[in-house]
Amino acid sequence: MEIRRVGVLGAGLMGAGIAEVSARAGYETTVREVSDDLAARGRARIESSLEKAVERQKATAGERDAARGRLRTTTALGDLAESDIVIEAIVEDLDLKKKTYRELDALCKPAAIFCSNTSSLTITELSAATGRPDRFAGLHFFNPVPVMKLVEVVRTIATSPETLETVFAFAKSLGKEPIRAGDNSGFVVNRLLVPYLLDAVRALEEGVGTREDIDRGMELGCGHPMGPLRLLDFVGLDTTYAIAQIMFDEYREKRFAPPPLLKRMVLAGRYGRKSGRGFYDYGGAK
Ligand code: 3HC
Repeated sequence: MEIRRVGVLGAGLMGAGIAEVSARAGYETTVREVSDDLAARGRARIESSLEKAVERQKATAGERDAARGRLRTTTALGDLAESDIVIEAIVEDLDLKKKTYRELDALCKPAAIFCSNTSSLTITELSAATGRPDRFAGLHFFNPVPVMKLVEVVRTIATSPETLETVFAFAKSLGKEPIRAGDNSGFVVNRLLVPYLLDAVRALEEGVGTREDIDRGMELGCGHPMGPLRLLDFVGLDTTYAIAQIMFDEYREKRFAPPPLLKRMVLAGRYGRKSGRGFYDYGGAK
């Protein structure tokens, strides 16, 4: 199936990145947010990343302008009706996602493929909210989307081989390197990454090391670009907390259980970079 028009649901950290790589890869891209304010913030996020890509010589000014021309933000779900593929990247709220998919299913053309960027909810359950589980797959990107090469392509027992092939080829056309993953909570990467991040919080909680020493240990000892606490601030403590709860609910294993310190920080509104403060202080900068 040929993909020309791409719809993206959500213009947050992930949705804006997905819309940007899609427009840069040549697709007519429409990204939908629930309010004008959020749509404007998503647009600004994309603009700033496009500028950075030009500064870093990852794109020419002409490519930036062409990508801008292919990108549209909207608050109307109906504007996604002509999409050949829709990638959903809204909050990790099962009921809200199912409701959105039901509405989308009624207005999109029958051949359109639906993908979810969820990092922990089951793709099978989301696909069951639509009449097209055979044209439904997971497409899980990594933050920052324009930089990270990996995309996980997730199949369910109902995903058709043709859909899987189309989604895999689509991911490659975005300049990504896709891997295949089964529909288990966390897929491949978060299944390994989330217990590691939670363990870093436990290590801090237990006084094994300071935040700087824990981070420096993994940066210098294992060659990670960011230590785990800095990475938690980067991904968002609220997001990681939500993912851990979903994974704990699925596996009932202690390694996925969010530690009390993570919960307290989320309750205190210390979400990391996005709120200006997490394990580190970002000087109030959003
Ligand atoms: N567009 C295109 N390329 C860009 C760009 C943009 N907007 N901004 C930066 N780049 C490029 C740079 O040119 C540079 O490329 P080069 O290596 O070829 O020169 C590269 O990206 C790195 O950029 P910077 O030099 O600005 O930044 P740093 O070297 O400080 O690296 C980082 C920043 C990429 C965020 C790095 O610290 C990193 O890899 N951190 C770990 C990120 C990670 O683990 N992400 C996964 C999180 S888990 C997740 O997302 C799953 C979810 O479900 C929780």
